[in-house]
Amino acid sequence: MKNMFGRNFIVRGLIKNENFRKFTTNQRPPPVMPSCDYKPKQYEGPDFDTVQKIKEKHIVPCIKQYYKEPLLLHEGHMQWLFDHNGRRYLDMFSGIVTVSAGHCHPKVTKETKDQIDKLWHTTNIYLHPKLYEYAEKLTAKLPGNLKVAYFVNSGSEANDLAMLITRIYTGNFDIISFRNAYHGLSPYSMGMTALSFSRHDVPSALGIHHAMNPDVYRGLWGGAHCRDSPVQTDRKCDCAEGKCQAADRYYEQLEEVFMYSLAPSKVAALFAESIQGVGGTVQFPKGFLKKAYELVRSNGGLCVADEVQTGFGRTGDYFWGFESHEVIPDIVTMAKGIGNGYPLAAVVTTPEISQALGHAFHFNTFGGNPVACTAGMATLEVIEEEGLQKNSKIVGTYLLEELAKLRDEFAYVGDVRGKGLMIGVDLVKNKATREPIAAKHFADIWEDCKDMGVLLGRGGMNGNVIRIKPPMCVTKQDADFTVQVLRTALEKFTEKCEKCKTS
Ligand SMILES: Cc1ncc(COP(=O)(O)O)c(C=O)c1O
Repeated sequence: MKNMFGRNFIVRGLIKNENFRKFTTNQRPPPVMPSCDYKPKQYEGPDFDTVQKIKEKHIVPCIKQYYKEPLLLHEGHMQWLFDHNGRRYLDMFSGIVTVSAGHCHPKVTKETKDQIDKLWHTTNIYLHPKLYEYAEKLTAKLPGNLKVAYFVNSGSEANDLAMLITRIYTGNFDIISFRNAYHGLSPYSMGMTALSFSRHDVPSALGIHHAMNPDVYRGLWGGAHCRDSPVQTDRKCDCAEGKCQAADRYYEQLEEVFMYSLAPSKVAALFAESIQGVGGTVQFPKGFLKKAYELVRSNGGLCVADEVQTGFGRTGDYFWGFESHEVIPDIVTMAKGIGNGYPLAAVVTTPEISQALGHAFHFNTFGGNPVACTAGMATLEVIEEEGLQKNSKIVGTYLLEELAKLRDEFAYVGDVRGKGLMIGVDLVKNKATREPIAAKHFADIWEDCKDMGVLLGRGGMNGNVIRIKPPMCVTKQDADFTVQVLRTALEKFTEKCEKCKTS
């Protein structure tokens, strides 16, 4: 079978490597996982079936696991996870984009344990050093006058608080987010999340408007050099270098939201992820967000960067994702990677804007907890000491370029995108129409990768995007292994589809 470029792609791997000629993909030995010195302890918890039974009986049914046969995990070490049978997996999704420095990173673990020995809990009614030391260190990483922090426990909570601040500060009510955005699922933040599979039929979006998503792969407009990424879409355009008509067209759509949906010249805020995460690693065209910020500010609004996934060096070139859009937000929300998996989140803003919260008593029992702040501080130190931002750039760029080769080889890989270690692989049924691959076919490929030892995330409105966002300590060998595994899974899937067509 020929792919859209007229090349024979099904047995490409077989043709390239003489040793593989005699095997079909299914018979071939699976790719070999990079070695690891760490030995997990023997699992001593309840057996798999008991855990499943407890789950069915005592956990709300909306809590769903990945995979037909879910994984029972009990230990982690850096980029590695171990299941109850002691089987090792390469975690290329870091929980959900959360384990920034590595599972149970020795320094983060030690410092957190030491703090547990000293003081677990106190609240902000007293002074305690960790919160202040950490606030100083964290805000030093932010540009401009973004110098005051409010600590909370989750990304949703951070976005809730940011929404409140923007409304009080501006005296305006309307908030804009983008379709395909994910900003959390608390009743307030759910209003800004514009992915219908995450929304309940309750009044959560009062005053929230979802603007057209500037998605240069699936959207109405997009071309050959819109993205700040080593890999561009396969769409053609005749924009001159440095110009992007797609950015202009999507900007006009945003202007229309102001024109048709908002009270004249009034807006409280624009919320945007620097690269959309749950939505499937969607990158806005270059220059778009900068103009959007100007529009919002000229209508009296604030600009909020949701850095829950893109912060802490993940995108490689910069510590914060918004920096690649050449903007300085008024408020930054952060969570996930901030604590390497410890529940911690923050809202950082300017001293002036933070005054808005002073009009009433605002309190949070666990926000700024000494143990959480210790985990946050140690994580930040590790990111700096171990050069994890630089590693994200080097390994991420390499991985993106290797994955782009899969797009050229396989009919089912429609797009590869992202920056640093924030990567999406968009699987399609038809490359020309960009129709997403069927859910069951996605699952075939994805489960197969798991069975070969690589854990990948899933995202996008149609659940057809592989999300690769590993702990930032991964190596080029891990990247090679991931690509070999994905290539093998795609080859097997392609062979299977061919057989179905001929039988
Ligand atoms: C960009 C973004 N913002 C906010 C959230 C909500 O964070 P949490 O699940 O900690 O409430 C998420 C979670 O995935 C996210 O990806």
